[in-house]
Amino acid sequence: SQIQDVESDKVKKAKNMAFAFDIDGVLVHGDRLIPEGKRALEILNGDNELGIKIPHIFLTNGSGKPEKARCEQLSKILHNPVSTEQFIQSHTPMSALAEYYNTVLVVGGEGFKCREVAELYGFKDIVVPNDIVAWDETIAPYRHFSPWERASAKPRDFSKCNIEAILVFSDSRDYATDMQIIMDLLRSENGRLGTIAKDPVTSRIPIYFSQGDMLCPTEHWTPRMSQGTFRIGLEAMYKALTGADLERVVYGKPEAATYKYADEIMTSWMEQLHGEEKLPENIYMVGDNPASDIVGGNMYGWNTCLVRTGVFQGGENDEQNPANFGVFPNVLEAVQTALKKQL
Ligand code: G3P
Ligand code: MG
Repeated sequence: SQIQDVESDKVKKAKNMAFAFDIDGVLVHGDRLIPEGKRALEILNGDNELGIKIPHIFLTNGSGKPEKARCEQLSKILHNPVSTEQFIQSHTPMSALAEYYNTVLVVGGEGFKCREVAELYGFKDIVVPNDIVAWDETIAPYRHFSPWERASAKPRDFSKCNIEAILVFSDSRDYATDMQIIMDLLRSENGRLGTIAKDPVTSRIPIYFSQGDMLCPTEHWTPRMSQGTFRIGLEAMYKALTGADLERVVYGKPEAATYKYADEIMTSWMEQLHGEEKLPENIYMVGDNPASDIVGGNMYGWNTCLVRTGVFQGGENDEQNPANFGVFPNVLEAVQTALKKQL
């Protein structure tokens, strides 16, 4: 019948669309739910007129926890299931680096959590700044090292080993210590502490950042500085101390590598939900940060929706990186408008 035809046409269209959600500023503020996020996800998880699931992945510049732990935490906050198979954090694609470097310095995050993340990614020999402070406290002259930190650190004689790469996984909890140690390593002879290279550029070890956001929406009334500002500080210090530019690699949105990785995750998630390993034609990115979510999505050919619940606090649309599908008060309105357009 005609009604059945219309219905099956809608199902076909629904199976040809998917969403990519930013997390901070779209679905949550810190650990606090943005209420419209819960409803938006319920709709996509099947509470819609067709009763079918609409694939969505989470593409966040967030970091600092193993994927499984973060997904469990988010499932609780959002009251909707979040699987590791539909989830990409800023450092997730950095797991590929594990085969290139043996000894790495992993920077950022709470306590020793990023060491755990790096272990899960398969890195073999992981050093965190606290291991170095525990070896030689004079390296960070203003640091108060707690007994707990000392007990959980893994010191060794770092003048006898080379650190092959620096991986900034998450926001630094101690700029002074982390910047000092990173700068010492960048200026050393091939990552050997206790040395200063004659030519800092040729013997410099590589440095990677998991994302480049300047600002991050949190529970504070205005966004807080993020990894991008930390990196800019390091670049300026490096230039001032050596005269050379610091070459570096940045992951996360809006870098194309991250969107490519998202395609892979999206394709396999489509297969899980619809049984067909194929990218949908209509992908909607919902984000709050024009300089990462929106510019990246625009470049990658996605439909971009900018929401007003996070970093963006401007007028009709962002002037530098306008969202191509529109600006919405919140994620629920973005999802509803996209569904209306596609179905
Ligand atoms: O800026 C750092 C990070 O917390 C942003 O996360 O989910 O907005 O990409 P997200
Ligand atoms: Mg965000």
